Amino acid sequence: MPLKFHRLLLPLLLFVCQLLAEIPQCFHFTWVGAYENHSNIHTETCDSRVGDFNDIPCEEPLVVTPDDTVPDVKALWHNATEDRDNFLCQMSPGRSCVKYSYIFKGGIQNITYMCAIVNSTNGCYRQTHATGMVVEACVCTSKVGLIPCNGCSNSRLSGAMGLALCLIILYQWLNKYRIL
Ligand SMILES: *[C@@H]1O[C@H](CO)[C@@H](O)[C@H](O)[C@H]1NC(C)=O
Ligand SMILES: *[C@@H]1O[C@H](CO)[C@@H](O)[C@H](O)[C@H]1NC(C)=O
Ligand SMILES: *[C@@H]1O[C@H](CO)[C@@H](O)[C@H](O)[C@H]1NC(C)=O
Ligand SMILES: *[C@@H]1O[C@H](CO)[C@@H](O)[C@H](O)[C@H]1NC(C)=O
Repeated sequence: MPLKFHRLLLPLLLFVCQLLAEIPQCFHFTWVGAYENHSNIHTETCDSRVGDFNDIPCEEPLVVTPDDTVPDVKALWHNATEDRDNFLCQMSPGRSCVKYSYIFKGGIQNITYMCAIVNSTNGCYRQTHATGMVVEACVCTSKVGLIPCNGCSNSRLSGAMGLALCLIILYQWLNKYRIL
């Protein structure tokens, strides 16, 4: 390849690398848990469920699952016919992926997935209320192109890893074509 081409290509590739490394995604929806009449879910909003004036996390779209089981986010991520973007948000700089679960006597009542600005490092935090309700918040950082990290609760991937991985691939690619 002519040298001129390389000069153009290299910054471009670096730019693409950076771009890719910087816009990972998070899941973004609320699974309402056990729900009486599934055909009525379309009439529900976060407002109607939790109202304006409290700290209970809720993110539309509201989702019900067959048999009211915990959402299979892996299937959602891999389902090509599903409009996946409806259930995702961009993990823009300064934000993290968060998964809030309400757990009562070991049973998960509902889960809210979101992108949020949080003031804590990656990991899971549990708070037990007097009623016995446990609220678990898991904070993590997604990697670009991969399934968002707030699908599972104990993922600890760093955004820097995405960039590092990209640079390694770029380096290998450049080596292969003997550009360096
Ligand atoms: C569910 O809700 C729909 C719409 O309101 C209603 O037509 C249907 O009869 C309900 N089904 C049950 C099992 O309650
Ligand atoms: C999740 O469950 C808790 C406990 O039952 C409830 O207070 C909260 O409103 C629920 N969240 C949503 C979004 O429905
Ligand atoms: C994929 O999503 C579509 C639309 O919601 C659904 O009908 C279908 O059953 C899903 N397929 C799988 C394999 O989950
Ligand atoms: C974030 O955490 C730090 C250290 O725990 C604390 O001093 C600060 O007030 C927190 N900020 C917010 C917005 O909660």
